[in-house]
Amino acid sequence: MSDEDPKSGFTRRDLVRGAVAGVVAAGVGGKAEAASGRPLGPQAVPIELRVNGKLHHLTVETRVVLADALRERLGLTGTKVVCGRGACGACTVLIDGDSACSCLLLAAEVQGKKITTIEGLASDGGLAPIQEAFVAADALQCGFCTPGIVMSCKALLDRNPKPSREQIRHAVSGNLCRCGTYPHVFEAVERAAGLKMAENGKRKTENESEPSLVSRFPFPHSRLESDPRVDSGTAEALEAEEA
Ligand code: FES
Ligand code: FES
Repeated sequence: MSDEDPKSGFTRRDLVRGAVAGVVAAGVGGKAEAASGRPLGPQAVPIELRVNGKLHHLTVETRVVLADALRERLGLTGTKVVCGRGACGACTVLIDGDSACSCLLLAAEVQGKKITTIEGLASDGGLAPIQEAFVAADALQCGFCTPGIVMSCKALLDRNPKPSREQIRHAVSGNLCRCGTYPHVFEAVERAAGLKMAENGKRKTENESEPSLVSRFPFPHSRLESDPRVDSGTAEALEAEEA
C-alpha cells in the first residue's frame, strides 16, 4: 500500500498519530471538555508534566510528543530523538518506572505520571550506580544511544536487581547502538548488579556460554510488537505500515 494518498495529503503515519491523539483528547483540558466528548485541538492546551520530581506547567498542541516537550520546552536534551517511530530506543525514558519510547507518547497523554529522564538519575552531584558502571565498563563510543540504553538498563535493574545475561540482552534489544557497544553495556549492567568482578571480568553467579552474534542481536520484523516499551496497538499499526 502506498504510504501517501496524493489526493488527501495524509500518510498512514498521520492516521496512527491521529488515532492516538483522539484517545488522549478525552483526558486533556479538564473535566468539562472531557464530559463534552469533543476532541481537543488543534489549538494548544494546558498540561502538567511531572519530570524528575518537578511539576511543569506547559501549553502544547495535542499532537506534541513527549520527547519534543522534554527537549524543546523543558530543555532536557539528554533524551535523544533519532527515528521518531519507536524503532531505535534513543528516546527511552521511564514512565512510572517502566521504560518507554518518548517519541511514541503524546505529552498530554502522560499527565499525572512520574516521568524520569537521564537528567533525573544523578543525585547530590554524583552519578547513579548504573551511570558509574557505564563509565567503568567503557560502555559508549559516540554516546548518542547511551541515555536511552542507560534508561532501559535502569528500568531492568529496578525490577530485577540480578538479571541474567539473557535478560539484559532482552532489556536493551529495543535500543540500537550503531557503534556496537553491546558487550560493554552487558558488562556495565553486570557491574551495577554486582554480578561481575572488576578484577577478572567473570560473572560471579552464572557460567553462560556466549550465543552466536546472530542470535545475540535478533531484530526481526516483529521486534516492535515484542518490545514492552511500545504500546501493542501502535506497534501493530507501524509494522503494518512497513509490511
Ligand atoms: S526516537 Fe527512535 S524510538 Fe524514539
Ligand atoms: S555509542 Fe554510538 S550509537 Fe551507541
